Amino acid sequence: MRRIFSGIQPTHKMHLGNYLGAVRNWVALQDEDYETIYCVVDLHALTVPQDPEALRAQTRELAATLIACGIDPVRSTLFVQSQVPAHAELSWLFSCLTPLGWLNRMTQFKDKAAKQRDNTMLGLLAYPVLMAADILAYKATHVPVGDDQKQHLELTREIAGSFNHRYGVEFFPLTEPQILGPATRVMSLRDGTKKMSKSDESDYSRINLTDDADTIALKFRKAKTDPEPLPSEPAGLDGRPEAKNLVAIYAALAGISIDETLRQYGGGQFSTFKKDLAEVAVTALAPIADRLGRLMADPAYVDGVLREGGAKAAATAEGVLRDVKDIMGLVRS
Ligand code: TYM
Repeated sequence: MRRIFSGIQPTHKMHLGNYLGAVRNWVALQDEDYETIYCVVDLHALTVPQDPEALRAQTRELAATLIACGIDPVRSTLFVQSQVPAHAELSWLFSCLTPLGWLNRMTQFKDKAAKQRDNTMLGLLAYPVLMAADILAYKATHVPVGDDQKQHLELTREIAGSFNHRYGVEFFPLTEPQILGPATRVMSLRDGTKKMSKSDESDYSRINLTDDADTIALKFRKAKTDPEPLPSEPAGLDGRPEAKNLVAIYAALAGISIDETLRQYGGGQFSTFKKDLAEVAVTALAPIADRLGRLMADPAYVDGVLREGGAKAAATAEGVLRDVKDIMGLVRS
């Protein structure tokens, strides 16, 4: 059986990096031969301080955004992580099989802990263990993500392998990451060496899925570039991170390759290219914002989808958890 699981944190509105690196692929994979399970991971969001009301609102809005992007609640299971207790429980069981050394190695932990200094919480260190539990609670075989999640998925494989080895079973699959398309790591529009991220202070660093046409055009117009014209070959993008990023975004949005993009725009100025880039972005994003507006006016529908998705997810995850407990020697009565 081929089963996909993936998740996204409700820490902010969705941006173009989330969309091109992950969510667009989640939508496309619904047409292939997989069972698809997608999750708004609110427990992960708690690893940094959250305002309770804002978290609740963002969780619902993100679920609605996923539906607006094309996640089909009929073909996919869409739910909120905290509504399925098996994730947190499995996470504890895995934490007893995960050496601290594996977690201390995680670059995202090191980066975030460096910012939080003495106030680093246990949850931040344990984050990748919960992520492994998210995936393995469904015995997911494939996980579509952006490039920044690669290391966490390697850890998931290590945890699965360690469980299988420790108990002499072939229980968990070794999950395959699916890092797909020309824009697996979308960079900030202000600095091509930094990832486009929800936590960047400057809103000009990212395109939000809900930005209107004028804002999108303005953000691309202001996006950092260099004084050279665009190259005609991909090799000419080496050492030019901002140009490389904009070309990758264009290719992903227009549904063509980077080679093709450069054949079209090579030798040209950024000003023309940026105008066309804004146009393909608006063409792709405006219908999503439109659908999101309608979904936000119908919160009962979105809550209903999440309720049903949660029940369906829980049924699967509880079955896996029961087997895990049996394997580990926990008594069931
Ligand atoms: P999160 O919420 O940071 O991001 C959600 C998805 O968007 C991708 N992404 C990007 N892709 C390309 N360029 C970017 N600039 C960019 N920024 C984000 C991420 O790679 C991700 O696929 N730990 C995860 C959430 C998670 C999860 C899981 C994912 C929790 N449990 C289980 C998969 C499976 C995270 O923080 O994603």
